[in-house]
Formats: sequence, structure tokens, C-alpha cells
Amino acid sequence: MSPLTKSLTLLRVFTACHRHHSSLANELIENMDKKSTWDRFYAESSSRTPTFKNFEWFFGFHSVKDVIMPLLETASHPNTLLQVLDMGCGTSALGPSIYKNSAVPVHVTCADISPIAVQLMQEHIRLQLIQPHNLSSQLQFLELDCTQLDKHYGSNTLGLIVDKGTTDALLRSKEGKGKAALVLKQCLRALQSSGSLLQFSDEDPDARLLWLETEVQEQGVVTADVSVQEVGELRGVCYYCYHVTPHPALNLDSSNI
Ligand SMILES: C[S@@+](CC[C@H](N)C(=O)[O-])C[C@H]1O[C@@H](n2cnc3c(N)ncnc32)[C@H](O)[C@@H]1O
Repeated sequence: MSPLTKSLTLLRVFTACHRHHSSLANELIENMDKKSTWDRFYAESSSRTPTFKNFEWFFGFHSVKDVIMPLLETASHPNTLLQVLDMGCGTSALGPSIYKNSAVPVHVTCADISPIAVQLMQEHIRLQLIQPHNLSSQLQFLELDCTQLDKHYGSNTLGLIVDKGTTDALLRSKEGKGKAALVLKQCLRALQSSGSLLQFSDEDPDARLLWLETEVQEQGVVTADVSVQEVGELRGVCYYCYHVTPHPALNLDSSNI
């Protein structure tokens, strides 16, 4: 399936689920890298339903828990909270589900450029009072532009970054490709050497692996390993998990970003 066909399939799903105005659908096709597009998306979605409902891009936590949960065990260090970032969390339940289900202590930060998504999630979680599996675990929501991760995270601080549809949104936007490359560099800088970035995507490996393998090079030096596994098929679309792990010797400082 071509990227355009996939985008149109997704938009049909939105329209069916949320009866979005066609002007928002058009905005989503070209401007998924813009804060204003997502503010409008989350504001219109929430105004249509009297009670909060998580919106899941592609699929929910249960489709990917077997990929994510074992990584928490391997990335964790004794007596420390493993720092986990859901990058571009939207109103997905992915981050809260990691917090709820992780046996190892985690500090999950759900970050999004849209303050509307962040406020909706903060309010929802405040009312829900989720009990984490590990009582030391923490959960927070944060308005953050992930092209500027270095404003919030030092280098080598994150154990796991999950990205469900965020890099896809940037790569598919008219002006988002540079931002996607910047976000990847910022992730590699913020990750510990034992850490991982997981990009959940519907982009075919032929295209995404080539993009990742090109972008993880710094002056001809490969700074990370990249691999892919299939997550499964949903509504006729195949989904993948792209796994990026920084090389231990990697030491990108922010002046290179
Ligand atoms: C395709 S949606 C995916 C949302 C969520 N991860 C999910 O699975 O439902 C992309 C999300 O990325 C967010 N986003 C776009 N650009 C961003 C940026 N530069 N920094 C942080 N979040 C961003 C949008 O606000 C939106 O919530």
C-alpha cells in the first residue's frame, strides 16, 4: 500500500470515528507537524464526546505490550527509576499502561506538543487514580516539542522512548521531514547506551530502514543500530516496530544537533 493510500485510509477511519470536518482532514494530510493542527484535532475530538475517550493512532497498548515490556526489564538498573518517554503521546493510553503494568520501577513521561492533549490526559488520569504494579513508579504529562528534547532531558538519561505515529506524522507532512530527523538525533542524544527508541509505524521497511540508516550516520560514522519487526495487520494495513539502539560509544553533544 502506498504512503498516500495509507494516509487516506487513516483519514477515512478518523472521519468515520469522529465525523471530523473535511477542513481538518485536509489539515491532517499536510500539516501533521504543526501544533495548531493537533490542538484543533484534540479540541474537536473532545468536544464531540461528553466523556473522555483515549484516541489511539494505529492500535493500543495490548498490540505492542510484548515488544515493550521485556525491554523495560533489560534496560532497568537496580535501585533506579527507569526513565520512559512516550513521545507525542496525544491522548493515547500507551504511557499510562506502561506505568500501570511495569514490574520494574519506571518514571513515565507522556509528552506532546499539544497543550490540549496534555490537559485532557492530566484531567483524565487525575480522575482515574491508576494504581501502578510497582508502587515506586511515577507518571507525568508534559507539554514539550520533541525537536527540543534537550531542553528537558540531559544526555544519556532515558531508558526507553516509545513513538507511536509521531515520526510518521512528521515524515508525512509537507514541512516535517527536517523535524523528524532532528527528533531522531535528539532521541539518540537523550538515550542511555542500554536504551532503545521504538518507532511504531505503518511505513514499509524499504523506506523507513533506508531513512533511519541514513539519519543515524554522523559524518559517515554509524551511531546506532536499526532493526525492524512486524507488529501485525489491522484493517488490511501491516504495522512495524523500528528498534533503534545507540552505539555505546555514542556521545553526541547538543552543539551537533
Ligand atoms: C499521529 S499522532 C500519535 C498520537 C499518539 N502517540 C497515539 O498513538 O495515539 C502524533 C502526535 O504527535 C504530536 N506531535 C507532533 N509534533 C510533535 C513535536 N514536535 N513534539 C511533540 N509532539 C508532537 C501530535 O500532537 C500528536 O499527538
